[in-house]
Amino acid sequence: MRGLEQLSIQCPAKINLTLGILGRRTDGYHELETIMQSISLVDTLHFLPGTTGLELTSDDPNLPSGEDNLVYRAAALLMKYVGRSKPGVCLQLEKRIPVAAGLAGGSTDAAGALKGLNRFWNLGLTFRELEKLGAQLGSDVPFCIRGGTALARGRGEQLTPLSVQTGWWLVLVKPPIEVSTAQVYSDFRLQQVEKQPDTRAMVDSLKKGNLKSIGKNLVNVLETVTIKRHPIIGEIKAEMIKRGAVGALMSGSGPTVLGVVEGQQAAVDLANSFRDQFTAVYTARTLSPLESNP
Ligand code: C5P
Repeated sequence: MRGLEQLSIQCPAKINLTLGILGRRTDGYHELETIMQSISLVDTLHFLPGTTGLELTSDDPNLPSGEDNLVYRAAALLMKYVGRSKPGVCLQLEKRIPVAAGLAGGSTDAAGALKGLNRFWNLGLTFRELEKLGAQLGSDVPFCIRGGTALARGRGEQLTPLSVQTGWWLVLVKPPIEVSTAQVYSDFRLQQVEKQPDTRAMVDSLKKGNLKSIGKNLVNVLETVTIKRHPIIGEIKAEMIKRGAVGALMSGSGPTVLGVVEGQQAAVDLANSFRDQFTAVYTARTLSPLESNP
């Protein structure tokens, strides 16, 4: 069977509603227990027939287009895995998720490349196979392939899907600083953590769709590293609460701050209140697995 002529795929950003670290592993990674959630802030990847090999373009001039881009590496890995030469493909990336923001922007684009090429070339690989390949590209890539809400363990690649309520609203504010995930993890010290997340309480809150309780259970131990270095993150969190958010948290390794709010209008109002001070301000909704993989 022939592959598709043209395909577009949405690549949702990811936030961590809880992020607990149990310790450092012998392979240098950290053992995590974290609840991951897809949100409606998305990049879009277009797949078009190309002449030969892989070609990658992006509307963000700051992104690398060759092997330094995770999308390119994902496509190359998939080609190697299937071990056959494939028709040329041109990938066009519409970038909307801010980079180095703690929102898994690069990982979700790589996940989109694997899912999209699987369809574009009609490879027939299962999600499980794609997730295994994705784990070679980055710890967040398997979750980005699956989407929705999941409890992640190991280095983030061991996933248990959570059947919970989604569709609630958030505000995201990214201060104008870039953070290296590797650096944040390398500076992390377990002794400096005063509070690990209560995963069970968060899962319970999510199942009930109880926003106040979701807000109360937001915990990310990486704040101990990134907020210490960039106090602005703590200030944005405090401002969000002052302005009516039911909870606020740094996402991933930072520096983006997410605020949980009651409804779309509250999200729009809270976002607007930050726009005179910051340019990277977004509203977003949490996505179900089906919305993450339409
Ligand atoms: O897996 P990924 O390449 O996205 O991770 C980026 C960096 O974050 C790793 O090189 C590692 O230093 C750190 N990391 C970690 N423990 C994890 C995930 C990431 O130490 N569970």
